[in-house]
Amino acid sequence: MPKDLKGKTAIVTGASRGIGKAIAQTVASLGINLAIAARQEGPLKETAEEIRQKYKVRVLAVPCDVTKFEDLESLVNKTKENFGEIDILINNAGVSSQYPFEKQPFEDFERLVHTNYLGYVRLIRLVINDMIKNQSGAIINMVSGSTLCDPLPRNFLVYSSLKVGLRAFSKGLFWELRDHGIKITSILPGVTDTDLTGKLQEITADTSRLMTTEAIENAVKFALTVPANVCPLEIAVINQQTPWTAPVIPFKQAHPGK
Ligand SMILES: NC(=O)c1ccc[n+]([C@@H]2O[C@H](COP(=O)([O-])OP(=O)(O)OC[C@H]3O[C@@H](n4cnc5c(N)ncnc54)[C@H](OP(=O)(O)O)[C@@H]3O)[C@@H](O)[C@H]2O)c1
Repeated sequence: MPKDLKGKTAIVTGASRGIGKAIAQTVASLGINLAIAARQEGPLKETAEEIRQKYKVRVLAVPCDVTKFEDLESLVNKTKENFGEIDILINNAGVSSQYPFEKQPFEDFERLVHTNYLGYVRLIRLVINDMIKNQSGAIINMVSGSTLCDPLPRNFLVYSSLKVGLRAFSKGLFWELRDHGIKITSILPGVTDTDLTGKLQEITADTSRLMTTEAIENAVKFALTVPANVCPLEIAVINQQTPWTAPVIPFKQAHPGK
């Protein structure tokens, strides 16, 4: 990936709010054209217009459910029709889920697997052959700082273990594709102030411990602007006062059964 990114094309999933929206703005600030994706068309279109106005780049808003293979195919096809190549893929769309395992609904497992793991792998598979042909490309996967915990945080086992899988997949993919000039980066954010964390119990009780998206935006910028022969494999940006890593900050996380 050349250092001059102006005029390149990036797909950002889950870009209508939260971390994805912040990243889309950061990417646009580098002069990169965007295809942004999320399920709800209204907020997506509003985000697209905001970014066009502010950064004067081309922005295509593609309503897309990453759990549906045909939506992913359509996202890739529409991006190529509009911009030609896909230089950068930022896989970010995700859902959270907080349950004691024995109470977690079965349908929740499928939702998590399809959104937070399979959606990522399928979309990469759909863009990778063009990147191999071009011998260039950058893929960024939004993993989670919770993958740094061992054992994983209580009540987040399916969510976090899929992120562990995604992290392992990303690292292996770098190794598999490195001779094609393709960079693969995992970003491991700590607990960030978004709608996703707003729904969690206990974790966000002390809001002073939540990060803003700023460090994640900087991590994305860093990943996209390193020299051509460097790949930032993993960037972990966790809260200084992280709410969940007991070995770092003593934090009494109640047992779900109590
Ligand atoms: N916030 C945190 O503390 C934190 C920490 C570590 C990792 N992460 C990861 O960061 C990513 C973004 O999280 P966030 O906090 O920004 O969440 P958020 O504020 O809830 O935003 C999620 C985004 O993803 C989209 N989305 C959700 N399901 C989708 C689907 N099936 N297809 C397409 N788009 C979908 C949403 O739009 P629609 O609802 O319209 O589809 C929205 O744009 C996730 O992968 C999450 O696991 C977050």
